[in-house]
Amino acid sequence: MNNRTVRVHRPITAELRASVTEDLPEIDDIEDQDLRTKAIEAWAYALAGSSFARIRDIPGEGNPGQLSLRRGTQATHLRGVASLALRIVDEFQSTFPEIEVDRDLVLTGALCHAVGKPYEFDPANLARWDADPSASGQPALRHSVYGAHVCLLVGLPEEIAHIALGHSREGQHIGLSTECIIVRYADHTWWMIAGALGLMKPESMGIADPIIRARALDMPIAESANSK
Ligand SMILES: [Fe+2]
Repeated sequence: MNNRTVRVHRPITAELRASVTEDLPEIDDIEDQDLRTKAIEAWAYALAGSSFARIRDIPGEGNPGQLSLRRGTQATHLRGVASLALRIVDEFQSTFPEIEVDRDLVLTGALCHAVGKPYEFDPANLARWDADPSASGQPALRHSVYGAHVCLLVGLPEEIAHIALGHSREGQHIGLSTECIIVRYADHTWWMIAGALGLMKPESMGIADPIIRARALDMPIAESANSK
């Protein structure tokens, strides 16, 4: 009972930071330089503490083994949520120009909302938690919780840590900011529409909305979920 888990991080290199922007080019659209730099740092830190070399190596799934894309990676999802969240803002601003939304927080929050997934999806962590769930839980922390930790650790503002935490189930227990609501619904919408369009592996859709009837899609289901 004394073999407590000490987390090991590999060094954060310039190459690792560069891979973050290569996989999430929308990071360059974050106007505030401090937010942009720390968004990159958050992903670099999370990746360095995992078995994943870069974001596009993380499976395109909502949770480990659940809501699994038949084609595409976690980068595909993150970019889609960022684009959808900004389009939601644009839609309302075009009709109601008096609304106040921080676009930079929406974009940064969308790109960082799943920054805890390198930890929760790490095959080494999944195997460890599976081997003895009584030791530190299963998972020890969900990606939303670990993601909030990463955001605060690298100095991202509370507003972004809140989006990382509140976009997922944990958000049901707190009051959510306006920008968090936008990212949360963009995220959930993205997964549910992907499911309805037949873009998910049917056996992974157990936690999807029960009203979804996925459309059959002529697409090679054996294709790697990690392929771009
Ligand atoms: Fe997501």
